[in-house]
Amino acid sequence: MSGFYLALEGVEGSGKSTVGRLIVDRLAELGIETRSVREPGGTELGEELRRLVLHSGDMAPWAEAALFAASRAQLATAVIAPALADGRWIVSDRSYYSSLAYQGGGRGLGVGAVRLLNETVLDGVLPDIVVVLDVEPEVGFARETERDRIGRGGLELQHLVARTYREIAASDPRVMLVDANATPEELAAQVLEACFERHGDV
Ligand code: TYD
Repeated sequence: MSGFYLALEGVEGSGKSTVGRLIVDRLAELGIETRSVREPGGTELGEELRRLVLHSGDMAPWAEAALFAASRAQLATAVIAPALADGRWIVSDRSYYSSLAYQGGGRGLGVGAVRLLNETVLDGVLPDIVVVLDVEPEVGFARETERDRIGRGGLELQHLVARTYREIAASDPRVMLVDANATPEELAAQVLEACFERHGDV
């Protein structure tokens, strides 16, 4: 069976980490070798960049976008591409679609410009499917109390991010928007079904 790259996306507190864990467990039961990763991070360099981008002080929006892109370029080259070549599945907590929504929409850099930056640095290592867990920002934001540098952008930023995810989903065939007001178990089953369907086409 060939490799497959699933990315889970959503605003803060959308439940993607829980759903991701359930998916990884289910894939293991099915005997599918899976590697789970998160962005930013997942490599030595990426974890250092994560600390910088989430926990340092004032940062220009393009500096922020470039640090997220640097972390993911390293992850794609060092981890994701080799795992896919080995036929493994990747389950990723976030992807470059977070940059499209947060930096492109949230920070106002423009989805097109941020997409160009990221698709350039990723050099073809792109998710096969991107699932956005769609939840009202108020609901998600209230669930998470610890605020990193991005979280401190507040509810206003989360609204822009949620709106951008929806806009992208309306025109990008890689993206599937899922109503996240179901149980994590139901969501995991729904996402896996979509993956297997798409895997047949990859
Ligand atoms: P994280 O602790 O991983 O939170 P979450 O559980 O919400 O995924 O923090 C990642 C934060 O960085 C989150 O606020 C989203 C933001 N982010 C971006 O702004 N752009 C990006 O490209 C990525 C990957 C994350």
